[in-house]
Amino acid sequence: MKIVFAKVGRPKKGAIVVSVAESGKLSPTATAIDGESGGLIAKAMAGSRFTGKAHQTLTVFTSAGRVLLYGVGDPKKFDLKWAETAGGGIYAALAGSGEKEVTIVMESGDEHRAARAAHLALGAELRSYRFDKYRTTLKDDDKPTLEKLTVMVDGHAEAKKLYDVEAAVAEGVAFTRDLVSEPPNVLFPESFAQRCVGLKELGVAVEVLGEKEMTKLGMGALLGVGQGSRRESKLVVMRWNGGAKSDKPVAFVGKGVCFDTGGISIKPAGGMEDMKFDMGGAGVVSGLMRALAGRKAKANVIGVIGLVENMPDGNAMRPSDILTTMSGQTIEVINTDAEGRLVLADALWYTQDKFKPSFMVDLATLTGAMMVSLGEETCGYFANDDKLSDALKAAGDAVDEPMWRMPLGDAYNKQMDSDVADMKNAGPRWGGAITAACFLERFVNKTPWIHMDIAGVTWSRKDRSTTPKGASGFAVRALDRLVRDYVEKT
Ligand code: BES
Ligand code: MN
Ligand code: ZN
Repeated sequence: MKIVFAKVGRPKKGAIVVSVAESGKLSPTATAIDGESGGLIAKAMAGSRFTGKAHQTLTVFTSAGRVLLYGVGDPKKFDLKWAETAGGGIYAALAGSGEKEVTIVMESGDEHRAARAAHLALGAELRSYRFDKYRTTLKDDDKPTLEKLTVMVDGHAEAKKLYDVEAAVAEGVAFTRDLVSEPPNVLFPESFAQRCVGLKELGVAVEVLGEKEMTKLGMGALLGVGQGSRRESKLVVMRWNGGAKSDKPVAFVGKGVCFDTGGISIKPAGGMEDMKFDMGGAGVVSGLMRALAGRKAKANVIGVIGLVENMPDGNAMRPSDILTTMSGQTIEVINTDAEGRLVLADALWYTQDKFKPSFMVDLATLTGAMMVSLGEETCGYFANDDKLSDALKAAGDAVDEPMWRMPLGDAYNKQMDSDVADMKNAGPRWGGAITAACFLERFVNKTPWIHMDIAGVTWSRKDRSTTPKGASGFAVRALDRLVRDYVEKT
């Protein structure tokens, strides 16, 4: 969809979107069209439940064509998040309406209007994502008709400038969604790594380590997970150097299990297909790197992703195997389905050892237990640093990606001790997301660190305001925000 900004005027073609406040007060354009069309807008409102409450919509056909009334509710609450929700809602209301063009006429006068216009467009862009590449028989009737969105606002040049930054972030989100949507016969460690190599075009330095290099580094845990697969495991290191040479980097580390069968501790058949998105953490890290490079972030950022496939095989790791990690610590494998933490153990250790980042954030679709805790609405995270924790929480709130801090602690940590090795990879049933986080903490070596368990939020089973059903890209925007507010500003 093409998105443009223009000065306020009367749109010449396509659908027109105008606002109505809770008070029932029409915007100037709506008032004018109502007058020209003999009061059709007022009549439609009187004959419907539309009152101008926030995010209500009503379509009216007038002499000026299709008009979508959009309820803004209490205009004081019309902040940037609100604008994104509205942009997503307007897109959803008109995408398949038959209209090719739509113009949103924003007439409210305050000093934030350009930013609101930019975020309105961002909401629409994010909501317009589709993954249709394998649907060869999809009929035109089932495809969106909307091709162009114009946002009319006073100060449209400023809105466009602000939007250009957000559009880079939206591209990052789409990159993540594409990766997460791809099936595992197409997206496996090597082909995933290849897509990351494509980020070189944006100025990202990309290095791909194979099994030979990882064996040399002693990454016995990551390699243990991949050893039952016909596909070679990979570790991708991406670097964006947008900051000063002397600035320490920050690092993002992702679990990239391109498919998780559970391995020898094989998963039941029902729902196993969901495990194509078990590379969601790596997907977010890759999309984030793309977003940061796209908007030329003034920060030095490292992205490390551990790419493997967890398969049952004659060569697969077994429950009771003992793996030696790059850190030197040993792990008794209790359950081969607790594989994400094995991948991250080596990826985290490698990242802190090699880059000495000022902080690390890892992302992983790590546990079903996190979904039991927080469902599919909120991302649970763990932190060993209060300031970093507060910054992530604030970043999530700012972009409508809710985060909730979960506890760490010795009482949980010791549940991961093993009788035959330094630790085991699976603890008792209760508190499974927490013991998994404690396991990871053993590999961060005191670096300020956050672990985000994105198991519940990576795939959306319903349409949301700025996220269509499917791969969500959740956390790309929050982490981009974290870099803006916590790294670039300090
Ligand atoms: N990838 C799964 C976790 C998961 C489940 C993510 C459902 C998204 C949706 C992970 O590798 C796993 O299998 N975890 C086990 C750990 C257990 C064996 C200790 C789990 O959560 O059951
Ligand atoms: Mn698993
Ligand atoms: Zn997994």
